[in-house]
Amino acid sequence: IQTTFRDTILSGKHVLITAGPTQELLDPVRYISNFSTGKMGICLAEECYLQGAEVTLIAGPLQVSTHIQGINVVNVRSAAEMELACLVQAASSDIIFMAAAVADYRPASPAKEKIKKSEAMSTLVLEKTTDILSALGAVKKAHQTLVGFALETENEEANALKKMQQKNTDFIVLNSLKEAGAGFGLDTNQVTIFSASGEKKKVELQSKVEVAKEIIEFVIAH
Ligand code: CTP
Ligand code: CA
Repeated sequence: IQTTFRDTILSGKHVLITAGPTQELLDPVRYISNFSTGKMGICLAEECYLQGAEVTLIAGPLQVSTHIQGINVVNVRSAAEMELACLVQAASSDIIFMAAAVADYRPASPAKEKIKKSEAMSTLVLEKTTDILSALGAVKKAHQTLVGFALETENEEANALKKMQQKNTDFIVLNSLKEAGAGFGLDTNQVTIFSASGEKKKVELQSKVEVAKEIIEFVIAH
């Protein structure tokens, strides 16, 4: 889609968005990943573009993609690749939405060749990936707005607020898997947005496009 009519609310702003899962190779044919499809991140990228921003989307392996040609897409696979791409792009970004479901762990020493079942691999040794959002929070500049996401299944609000503080973000979007109609792969979502300055907004269950609009509106307003 070539989009001619764009709003000017975000014109002049560089927006960076990460989306989707990452895949952490075990050997050349196997990986560790999660159920993220990237839909929420794509909706955010498209909405920011339609509101006039210059948009870069750093995408893990996605089930869906954007049809808007004006969005600059950088494809990555692993958390390490996503980290590198983010560090390259972040310096020139005004607003960063870290919507990707980055793997927390990766195999410590991925095999060069396919692991044979006769090798009797009974233990998988993992190591932590870099927390990209924390890394971006640690070098955040005055002109930058950093938006993190939190997926929680218990003590949701307290855990989300803790993440916002520990990762030095300006906003945190809490995804709750407990709500029917919210979560992986669906076209709808229900989130609660918090700002570091203490505001809170519960966004009712609706399409991810509408949720993206609400998130952007809240960020601009606060
Ligand atoms: N995140 C990241 N790099 C990682 C892990 C997470 O940048 N290696 C980011 C996610 O993109 C999200 C935020 O951190 O914006 C919170 O992710 P989440 O998985 O909810 O929290 P974690 O800090 O990974 O903690 P846990 O999974 O233990 O709840
Ligand atoms: Ca995590």
